[in-house]
Amino acid sequence: MGMTLLGLDADQLLSTTRAVRKRLDLERPVPDELIRECVAMALQAPSGSNVVTMRFVVVRDEAKRQAVGQVYREVYAGYKASPYYPGLSTGDAARDRVQGRVASSADFLGDHMGDAPALVLGCTIGPDRASAEAGLGNILPGMWSFMLAARARGLGTAWTSMHRARERDVADILGIPYETVAQAVLTPLAYTKGTAFHPAERPDPNSVIHWDSW
Ligand SMILES: Cc1cc2nc3c(=O)[nH]c(=O)nc-3n(C[C@H](O)[C@H](O)[C@H](O)COP(=O)(O)O)c2cc1C
Repeated sequence: MGMTLLGLDADQLLSTTRAVRKRLDLERPVPDELIRECVAMALQAPSGSNVVTMRFVVVRDEAKRQAVGQVYREVYAGYKASPYYPGLSTGDAARDRVQGRVASSADFLGDHMGDAPALVLGCTIGPDRASAEAGLGNILPGMWSFMLAARARGLGTAWTSMHRARERDVADILGIPYETVAQAVLTPLAYTKGTAFHPAERPDPNSVIHWDSW
């Protein structure tokens, strides 16, 4: 297992696991065994009542990847036309530069989701649709652990959820039972081009902490 790890310490891992899009190596296959290791790490995340309801649909098949990628492309096109698109000017030049980079990166994924060697869909199961949806908290920590484990192994991911606007279509493509499986997160999975990633500019902790009361 250790052979494939980059050797990042915990804080390096936590601070350099970026949303990777343009630097996904779309040509290099990702071994199943590495994906299994990432899922093993994900399974160490907490689950309500200690019942594991997280599920991972790993899509390697080219036709299925492209079909899911097409759904993502179409949903992304709607997002791009919406007021939430980060490419829109805020009037703050420094902020606009960062958001412009995010928008350009996100546009790339909009076009290339299906071209990644694997797509991973983080899901959670329940006895019925409402219970499955209520269990999102059982997959979200697991999915982030999966992404951290991937980064530790030189793999890149990008958290996305907008395909859920067309969750049923993706369920049909992949044979996922919509009534009992809620899809939470869709990510491409690929080796990264280079392994150096940097901590992002983020708010001062004091600006988001409320000590003892709000
Ligand atoms: C709930 C959620 C939804 C997201 N949806 C998308 C998405 O649909 N498409 C995308 O390219 N990135 C998506 N992202 C990734 C963010 O755009 C990304 O985290 C942000 O640009 C900051 O980049 P960084 O993670 O590298 O710091 C999402 C992230 C979260 C947490």
